[in-house]
Amino acid sequence: MIDSTHSVQVDLGPRSYQISIGTRILDRVGSVVGSCCPTQHAVVVTDENVEQPHAMNVAKSLQETGVQTDLVVLPSGESTKSIEVAEQLWKKCLEVEVNRKSIIVAVGGGVIGDLAGFIAATYARGLRFLQIPTTLLAQVDSSVGGKVGINLPDAKNMVGAFWQPAGVLIDTATLDTLPAREYRAGLAEVVKYGVILDEEFFEYLERTERDINQRKPSVLIDIVERSCQLKAKIVSEDEREESGLRVVLNYGHTFAHALESVTGYRELLHGEAVSIGMLCASRLAEHLGRFDHASTERQAALLQNLGLPVAVPQVDHANILKAFRSDKKSEGNNLRFVLPSRIGKVELVEHIDPQDALGALGN
Ligand code: NAD
Ligand code: GLY
Repeated sequence: MIDSTHSVQVDLGPRSYQISIGTRILDRVGSVVGSCCPTQHAVVVTDENVEQPHAMNVAKSLQETGVQTDLVVLPSGESTKSIEVAEQLWKKCLEVEVNRKSIIVAVGGGVIGDLAGFIAATYARGLRFLQIPTTLLAQVDSSVGGKVGINLPDAKNMVGAFWQPAGVLIDTATLDTLPAREYRAGLAEVVKYGVILDEEFFEYLERTERDINQRKPSVLIDIVERSCQLKAKIVSEDEREESGLRVVLNYGHTFAHALESVTGYRELLHGEAVSIGMLCASRLAEHLGRFDHASTERQAALLQNLGLPVAVPQVDHANILKAFRSDKKSEGNNLRFVLPSRIGKVELVEHIDPQDALGALGN
């Protein structure tokens, strides 16, 4: 695609695409578009924290290559992933005369990527779109794999689609402006890949904790590239989460979603909840004799050294149980959890006793 530092292919037959990863490459977005989704018109969607300088750099690069560019700047935060904002965007597409050959370019974190991708999936029965993720969480997780969507008032990510991007452009230098707490939250998903799929990567993260905390550019490229390779492989083999393979990406997430939900989505960032949730899942696996205590401790040490929380906040167990039952992976009373059997391997385990699951909260 371009002479970016690194690239990862997501193999999905006719829906295949490339993830280009490098440092200070936003000025090359015009040439990326030229090769993955040639167009004369782009709508760049971003939020107020990302507009300057990142989205402006993207828009400038597109304009320099002759692409007519409309920029839409939205408020930041999860509440932007709503029906109301989606409607505003559909109307905006009408106003700026988006046609089937136009493209949508998402420049931002997971909120912008999910929302703009959903607009691409739905407007005019589907437009091509480019993901330019600017949070660590979006670079290692949400921009890859085609899950797009918005929230209903009482149900997160409930309306959406599988709609693959035409390409993903990751500039790790955009992380320079990311607040520390958001950066650390993204690291939880990076650790997740080590635990679920790759013991060597987990060991690499242990060895490079210091450089990761200092956001050393070469280490950022390494962790983003390896995470994208691992996610790309899973998505290529189970695009629509049908065979049971993609579900491993939800390690720690059943606990995390329940903790986020009962704390009203105010106390914990998603990655922070995932950090705590992975340790709950490890303790549950230990309790069931599937995992050893030393490996739980190893995960806790790594997560803590990366500045992530590991302690479960005070929560009401009845509400947690309700949240477990409404998890997308559960089927009625059959509680299902992704549990580790060793560092580098997890399995989906069915029919978990609710008391065992609650016991893993440890409070
Ligand atoms: P986010 O998009 O809200 O971004 C976090 C904050 O960082 C926001 O305030 C944003 O304005 C700011 N920001 C983004 N990039 C910045 C930068 N470079 N410099 C300064 N500030 C910057 O949150 P997120 O954690 O990226 O994404 C969370 C969303 O992703 C949730 O809605 C979640 O449901 C979704 N998600 C989707 C998938 C998927 O597969 N589609 C996977 C995981 C999470
Ligand atoms: N973040 C989970 C998935 O993409 O399937």
